[in-house]
Amino acid sequence: MLASGRVEIGPREADWVLEAAESRASTDREVERIALELAERRAEGEPLQYVLGTAAFRHLELSVGPGVLVPRPETEVLVERALDRLPPGGAIVDVGTGSGAIALAIGQERPDARVWATDDSAEALRYAQDNRAGLDLDVEILRGSLFEPLPGSMRGRFDVVVSNPPYVSESETHLVGRDVLDHEPDHAVFAGRDGLSIVTQLVGQAVSWLRPGGWLVCEIGQGQSETVVELFEVAGFVHSGVHRDLAGWDRIVEGRKPQP
Ligand SMILES: C[S@@+](CC[C@H](N)C(=O)[O-])C[C@H]1O[C@@H](n2cnc3c(N)ncnc32)[C@H](O)[C@@H]1O
Repeated sequence: MLASGRVEIGPREADWVLEAAESRASTDREVERIALELAERRAEGEPLQYVLGTAAFRHLELSVGPGVLVPRPETEVLVERALDRLPPGGAIVDVGTGSGAIALAIGQERPDARVWATDDSAEALRYAQDNRAGLDLDVEILRGSLFEPLPGSMRGRFDVVVSNPPYVSESETHLVGRDVLDHEPDHAVFAGRDGLSIVTQLVGQAVSWLRPGGWLVCEIGQGQSETVVELFEVAGFVHSGVHRDLAGWDRIVEGRKPQP
């Protein structure tokens, strides 16, 4: 970031911007015009992935832009945990799917799995649906709050519920970068005064959608692991555990629905 508040574009980013412009234009003049437009958006602080229109996530290249969260590298570890808990031919739901990153990565890496995804943001789901179409994956994407849009026949049948819910406290905007605050949707980032409003509902509701022995695997914010483990235990989960992300922060809580 420059002192003026503008972002400095390094040589690698400049190459990516040029590549993106070349893919959208047919004449040199158009390439130049589009490259300048994209570079200006980046210099103004827009996330690089919005400017390029794509984000890498596990083995996928996803379409992203204003209205949807850019999938983060730490969420790749969440996918790893969910895959470990998913039995052959198992059923999994990604709650709060955004661009579809988690659900589509699982669908691609585990073609045997039956994958559902929900989100209550119409804007986010447009990206998820485009991404699904581009990848030609059989993932059921439904609009609505948390588990509400799922068919009642799936209640008590999921092997895994996975989620990267919004988890930043509304009073902690200072913990979030300017690029996130100015560009990414608040609805995807913030969750009430303590950051726990969505995860509390998620944990409370997940237990009834899992089969006995099924797992809830959830991404959390910094400093939330103790409280979230407690939420899991209150909801009746057992074998609750915490896993760190690539930077060493507690980032994932998982727990199992008890078997009779
Ligand atoms: C942190 S983003 C995660 C997006 C994506 N799963 C990822 O990891 O990149 C949280 C997502 O949850 C969605 N969301 C927020 N509240 C929700 C609710 N009550 N029901 C369903 N989705 C919700 C937001 O629209 C957003 O797409």
